Amino acid sequence: MKPIRKAVIPAAGLGTRVLPASKAIPKEMLPIVDKPVIQYIVEEAAAAGIEEILIITSRGKSAIEDHFDRSPELEQRLLGSGKQALYDEIAAIPGLANLTFIRQKETKGLGHAVLCAKAFVGDEPFAVLYGDDVIIGEQSATAELCAAYEKYGKGVVGIKEVPHEMIHNYSSLKAEPIGPREFAVTDMIEKPKTPAEVLSYYSILGRCVLPPEIFGILEQTPPGAGGEIQLTDAMLQLARNGGMVGVDYTGTRYDMGNKLGMLQAAVEVGLAHAEVGPAFRQYLKNLAGRL
Ligand code: UTP
Repeated sequence: MKPIRKAVIPAAGLGTRVLPASKAIPKEMLPIVDKPVIQYIVEEAAAAGIEEILIITSRGKSAIEDHFDRSPELEQRLLGSGKQALYDEIAAIPGLANLTFIRQKETKGLGHAVLCAKAFVGDEPFAVLYGDDVIIGEQSATAELCAAYEKYGKGVVGIKEVPHEMIHNYSSLKAEPIGPREFAVTDMIEKPKTPAEVLSYYSILGRCVLPPEIFGILEQTPPGAGGEIQLTDAMLQLARNGGMVGVDYTGTRYDMGNKLGMLQAAVEVGLAHAEVGPAFRQYLKNLAGRL
């Protein structure tokens, strides 16, 4: 079996749920405390041993590319003013992985964005990390999914249970337990409209590992929910022909494409932050007493 060396990060969406913040700044560049969303995601892929990463961007998103470039003037300034630790941190960013960028010319959906990666991926399995989902935990969620791919030899989706009243905003999976945190996934539906369509409250959240056969399926996939080419609709075929594996990854996922997710991430990552965490904790305790 071919090892997983490549990852695709779709980051071309319009980010309408976090407007106006995302009008001129890509939502993938919004920070959680002091690091942009996209850097957390690239770090997670690198921690899984991924060597090559393709980031799918779109018009107005060149700040993402700039973030992973060298910044000689800034680096000189940091060195010259004795800020060695900050220099080391900034100078290491371009070396996190071998990054390539292409543009999705029209935002026709996540499935269409993944299809833009066909030439980059070639004939290999690959990981997909959704560009607005940050997962924080002891283990890289991508590494957990890659391990399941190597164990079962099937496409893998990262899954979590979602609140029942929210399932109509997510995908819903037919998922039977097969191991610790592992499930056989044999059916799925994107954004079920009626309770009868709900297969379970397990949903695909933020990560998957796919075989290259997905491209042939995506090429035949018509627009689905919201008029967009849905990755879930293509994965449904994989699930029905031989099945997929669901992994309930151990980390916590923050939906940085929505305002509440942004606030939750800021609070939880802020509390754990080495520099500002203790002062932030004290601030929150005082604030909570007044709520
Ligand atoms: P979302 O549906 O969460 O992103 O897609 P969006 O379209 O930006 O969201 P809203 O509804 O307008 O707020 C999940 C991921 O897929 C990418 C997004 O950038 C996000 O990282 N995506 C989505 C693309 O790359 N291309 C698309 O056409 C759609």
